[in-house]
Amino acid sequence: MKKIVLDTYEEVSRAAADIYTRQLKEKPGSVLGLATGSTPLGLYAELVRRYQAGEIDFSRARSFNLDEYYPIGGDHPQSYKYFMYENLFNRINLADSQLPDGEAGDPRAECKRYDAAIEAAGGIDLMLLGIGHNGHIGFNEPASSYSMGTHYIDLTESSIAANSRFFTDGGTQPVKALSMGVGAIMESKSVLLIITGAGKAAIAKKLFEGRIYTDVPACFLLLHPDATVIMDRAANGG
Ligand code: F6R
Repeated sequence: MKKIVLDTYEEVSRAAADIYTRQLKEKPGSVLGLATGSTPLGLYAELVRRYQAGEIDFSRARSFNLDEYYPIGGDHPQSYKYFMYENLFNRINLADSQLPDGEAGDPRAECKRYDAAIEAAGGIDLMLLGIGHNGHIGFNEPASSYSMGTHYIDLTESSIAANSRFFTDGGTQPVKALSMGVGAIMESKSVLLIITGAGKAAIAKKLFEGRIYTDVPACFLLLHPDATVIMDRAANGG
């Protein structure tokens, strides 16, 4: 696992955008794995800026997102679909972008369809990840065994509590989700994990001990042949 530590969040976002820029120059038809959350917002803003400046072209690329709540409509402001359209898809020229469908009638069939779509696309070239305070990647929470493919899951109490602040409009907060599994993430040709902020320093420290803690899903990335972590000084312990 390659570790890059930069001073600020902005530098991390630009360095991550450099990796995307290089990826699309080398392979314009790349399949990009994408994440939601606060960590990639700076990266997405930088990709939009570069696209508007004519420095990067997504017209032959496509994307698959890690996860989505279930059930949730794509027009719900807290859906991951809404987040991605607001922050990225409406602002760049990606040829195609997919998320697990939070409105699918049969969630388990949707998981199978999603895995088949990723496979038909040739697999993911560059998978972007953030990390939860508990070491989760996607909605793969600390557990003793992990699903390999996209799966339909009950969110943990801690994830429901962490996300409840976003569901204050009186609507029902989803307690389930559809998430790519550890296997799908590990099969990506390359992985880019971004870790920023002092709040992530403890989990980053644990990850860089270099041991496979089975209750820290991000530790699987230590086994990936082409994984890069870009972090800021705060996440690296200051
Ligand atoms: C996002 C996702 C999550 C986040 C993680 C970090 O699609 O699956 O695993 O990457 O919870 O979230 P932030 O960036 O908000 O700290």
